[in-house]
Amino acid sequence: PPARGVVQLQDVEFTYPGADDPVLSDINLTARPGGMTAIVGSTGAGKTTLLSLIPRLFDVTGGRVLLDGLDIREYDPAQLWERIGLIPQKAFLFTGTVASNLRYGNPDATDEELWRALEIAQAKDFVAEMPEGLNAPVAQGGSNVSGGQRQRLAIARALVKQAPVYLFDDSFSALDVATDARLRRALRPISAHATVIVVAQRVSTIVDADQIIVLENGRVVGTGTHDELLAGCATYVEIVQS
Ligand code: CTP
Ligand code: MG
Repeated sequence: PPARGVVQLQDVEFTYPGADDPVLSDINLTARPGGMTAIVGSTGAGKTTLLSLIPRLFDVTGGRVLLDGLDIREYDPAQLWERIGLIPQKAFLFTGTVASNLRYGNPDATDEELWRALEIAQAKDFVAEMPEGLNAPVAQGGSNVSGGQRQRLAIARALVKQAPVYLFDDSFSALDVATDARLRRALRPISAHATVIVVAQRVSTIVDADQIIVLENGRVVGTGTHDELLAGCATYVEIVQS
């Protein structure tokens, strides 16, 4: 069957290797294609850890994660990775060129597809301004581009994969407010058919979400829309007011 991108966490518990206590407990959530799920919570709440369980950077120590109804441990790891576009909290680039970085997850992508991804990621202008364009060199660690540019190239790289699931770990808070807004608008056609999970800090990113999950100390303390949580989740109110 074709990949649709339904992600489900069922009774998930996770303890880091060698640690005594779980950093995630009793996590239940479903994220569906055609909508955006936002994950919010204070620093150390477990947001990055939660995302890392979906492409199996770590395996759950309790419960299970399903993709399209199938336990992710049943997938071939490469096949699972192909279906998930992860934009890590600390974006990294490989030494090479803009194009080689963008094609990392999809070697067959055409130049046109790369430009399209750059356009959505709000990276088209600065790449077009480089004399070598797509063939512009990326120095070790991406040190010749700014942090915000690195973030946008990492987003473009994930988009080139055309995955049914995208995981954005705090990818927008490093961008200025205007770029952030343009980027989220450009992502709408993608979230119309893919499953998008974003860890977010800015209220403007969160309010649009179809579903917001509030994490506190590794547990879900609220699930709902912005209005629902404002009315019923003290932790959420604290987060959006801070
Ligand atoms: N942790 C750990 N070992 C790691 C990574 C994280 O023990 N390799 C711990 C952290 O110290 C923290 C908890 O796991 O107590 C959750 O960390 P994380 O998922 O990174 O929290 P975030 O909610 O992503 O925090 P932030 O907003 O700062 O990114
Ligand atoms: Mg994090």
